[in-house]
Amino acid sequence: MASKRLVVDVHTHLYLPRYASLLRKRTDLPKIITRTRDDGQKEERLVILKDEPSGGRPVGPSYVERDEKLRFMKNHGIDISIVSTANPWLDFLSTKEAHELALQLNDDLDEYCSSGPTVPGTSMRQLYGFGLIPIVPNISTKSLLEAVRQISASSCLKGLIMGTRGVGNGLDDEALDPVWSAISEAGLTVFLHPHYGIPQETWGGKNNGHVLPLALGFPMETTIATTRLILSGVLDRFPSLRLLLAHSGGALPQLSSRLASCIDHDPIVASRLKHDARFYLGKLYLDAVCYGPEELGFVSDVLARSNRYETGSKNIVPGSRSVGSGRMLFGTDHPFFPPLSSSEKWKSVVENLDAINNVQDWTKADKDGVKGGNAISLFNL
Ligand code: URA
Ligand code: ZN
Repeated sequence: MASKRLVVDVHTHLYLPRYASLLRKRTDLPKIITRTRDDGQKEERLVILKDEPSGGRPVGPSYVERDEKLRFMKNHGIDISIVSTANPWLDFLSTKEAHELALQLNDDLDEYCSSGPTVPGTSMRQLYGFGLIPIVPNISTKSLLEAVRQISASSCLKGLIMGTRGVGNGLDDEALDPVWSAISEAGLTVFLHPHYGIPQETWGGKNNGHVLPLALGFPMETTIATTRLILSGVLDRFPSLRLLLAHSGGALPQLSSRLASCIDHDPIVASRLKHDARFYLGKLYLDAVCYGPEELGFVSDVLARSNRYETGSKNIVPGSRSVGSGRMLFGTDHPFFPPLSSSEKWKSVVENLDAINNVQDWTKADKDGVKGGNAISLFNL
């Protein structure tokens, strides 16, 4: 019973020391640069996005050091974090470099987690991780499967984080079928996370900082990648594949009925899928990183109605919000979105916890589930 009340953060990043030192050596994106501020102090900045405004973002110990992660968790009442390498992962490396670094970083992350503390009074660790597979253009399937096996055999890695590019042609590429198959069989979860956004010219000429790429570009990238994956039949071929989408699935919940209708009216696609597109939404897991109770309630409604759209289903009763909330999991996106002026509690985190606590019609059990219980079950912690 006590474990139901633990708070688990499933969306929290780091750059392991080995990865950060690689970024410091680079002159092309992605890179960490050192610059001198107006007050004469030196500061490191992370430059990872194409056309990144303001010379990137400040990057400090919270990106790299485990003690900082644990301090952040304590300050915010987070008992367990499932930590993942932040974007852009291995995307910029050659096949050889990506293969070697994936295996090294998986070992590093397993050690980072397994040598960390346990949750007091339990055998659970405070830190678990999502590993990496070397998913870059021209990589061999053998190399991808080797990393899946390594993650599966590790003690603390519970899945893998993945961007949207696949091996060059996106996640709807049949070349990935053996990878989806191996991941499903291993019972690992894929944490699908954006990096590229949508084309820069969409944003116009005004300097709006990072707002448009992060608030809109990132979620649209996830929306498009997941839609392509659904359209390609991956979820029909691998029905037990567990996908956890960043940022509450972007715009997919809002657009899912429109998507279903467009499929139904398209002669090329109409008979391709086994089920109505809305069915697949209810098979996904979504983080609860959307900062508002109304959005969380809406997303849980969308997830809950999935069975109504199962071909041949007699179940036409809309599922309850509770059913949908069972597939949603708290996250922070730490160390991104720090407060602009120093404060112990981060607004981005407090807002996400408040949002969960204030969803209309979510019971206490639903809220406890989203805050931690769902992650404990999904990842068998
Ligand atoms: N910005 C990033 O680059 N990555 C995140 O995960 C969040 C914000
Ligand atoms: Zn993130």
